[in-house]
Amino acid sequence: ASRAHQQNIIPVIDTALKDAKINKYQFSAIAYTIGPGLLGSLLVGSSFAKAMAYSLEIPIIEVDHLQAHVLANFLSKPGEKKKIPEFPFLCLTVSGGHTQLLKVNDYFEMQYLGGTIDDAAGEAFDKAAKILGLSYPGGPIIDKLAKEGNSKKFHFSIANLPDYNFSFSGLKTSFLYFIRDNLKTNPNFIQENLADLAASIQYAIIKSLTNKMAAVLKNYSCRDIVLAGGVSANSALREAMQLLAENEKRNLYLPSIDLTTDNAAMIAVCGYYKFIKGNFSTL
Ligand code: KG4
Ligand code: ZN
Repeated sequence: ASRAHQQNIIPVIDTALKDAKINKYQFSAIAYTIGPGLLGSLLVGSSFAKAMAYSLEIPIIEVDHLQAHVLANFLSKPGEKKKIPEFPFLCLTVSGGHTQLLKVNDYFEMQYLGGTIDDAAGEAFDKAAKILGLSYPGGPIIDKLAKEGNSKKFHFSIANLPDYNFSFSGLKTSFLYFIRDNLKTNPNFIQENLADLAASIQYAIIKSLTNKMAAVLKNYSCRDIVLAGGVSANSALREAMQLLAENEKRNLYLPSIDLTTDNAAMIAVCGYYKFIKGNFSTL
């Protein structure tokens, strides 16, 4: 990942500048991801951002990866009339590395209500996909396969932790054992049941997420609910959360699909809100 960042950072920035029809001398500041994430990749980004800001004599701004996922909900495309959530709102951030329930009071004041004690939701998707012999990242592949499958065909029980916490490692293990046992009697078990397996494991992951969101809604009266992170691209999760929001008379806000997984625009929007506050960092 680190090497790929090194190879791609200059061509990516070049292309972004050309697409946006601006040049680097028009920058007011440079925002970069400080973490959490893979250290090697973060180092490439921070070194590049600092060097460029230093040479252009403009400020640098540190951005938290997870705050940026939440604030991706404030982005719209040119000409698009996207409604934005009102503070305070409740947010479920679901990515490859994190699963968190937050009460978001302001752009940078996010109260942690609960989260995963082991694997993240995206990790659960990716590990299930790996067990099925699918490629990485498995989340989007499971999402697609599940559309053709029966989510009630196989039952995988979900952990019910106290408070607003999640656990996905038990689900992964029971899925692994279930597949292994069935392969013993039928070597074609996966191929013959691929769509149903994808739909059933996806159902269990989503059920765990919606159950906890429902529990939060019982105790918090915020009118707006928001999804964030790579897994918020999942079509069945978007539908299930929409249903929950309607039943609970809340408004659901979803980021555009291309802004759900890691992207630079969400870092920029976070940088923008810090810029107007003058919240700069040092080299
Ligand atoms: O936010 P993100 O791009 O990176 C992290 O910060 O981790 O999230 C990546 C995760 C991966 O686990 C990927 O499988 C999952 O998001 N993902 C999905 C879908 N699209 C991406 N999971 C389920 N359904 C999808 N459509
Ligand atoms: Zn992310």
